[in-house]
Amino acid sequence: MDKLKVSGKEFRLFIPAEKIDKEIKSIAEQMNKDLVGKKPIFLSVLNGAFMFTSDLLKNITIEDSEVSFIKLASYEGMHSSGKVSEVIGLNIDIENRCLVILEDMLDSGRSMSYLLDILKSKNPSEIKLAVMFYKPNALKFNVHMDYKAIALENDFVLGRGLDYNGIGRNYPDLYIINE
Ligand code: IMP
Ligand code: MG
Repeated sequence: MDKLKVSGKEFRLFIPAEKIDKEIKSIAEQMNKDLVGKKPIFLSVLNGAFMFTSDLLKNITIEDSEVSFIKLASYEGMHSSGKVSEVIGLNIDIENRCLVILEDMLDSGRSMSYLLDILKSKNPSEIKLAVMFYKPNALKFNVHMDYKAIALENDFVLGRGLDYNGIGRNYPDLYIINE
């Protein structure tokens, strides 16, 4: 499909699935070298990272790898400072463990910066961050990405786990808004 209409907005095909697959595979290969012997816990940030997590993990060969899932709930307007977030589902012991966070998209970095603070307070031995997409010109928080697949401009995109109003996560290709 070259075009999609989601919640009244038009999107066009932007990055084909094969290109995304290739970049994710190359991240996995790098991790397979870097994280040998570390028994990493891959921590997938739902909902957006479900596809990235699956695609990446199929290419991970590191012995004793674990996968776990968390969700960030954000509430707007509860504080004058803006968004407030809460981490749901972090029910594993991460103390002294090597954590690899898997995120679909790093935009301003606000939610990741918040998540990193919470995770650090639980004393993992190290935290690596892997993102599928990131918008370098939108980054406002000081968040270091250890593994990153594809850089984007500040346009709104959809597919490959990313949604618009809850729709469109299922498409294997990435679509961009037609404006
Ligand atoms: P941040 O806190 O500003 O970095 O926002 C990151 C989150 O916003 C990502 O995990 C996505 O869920 C969502 N997001 C950012 N940009 C897009 C986009 O272009 N399409 C869909 N979701 C996006
Ligand atoms: Mg997300």
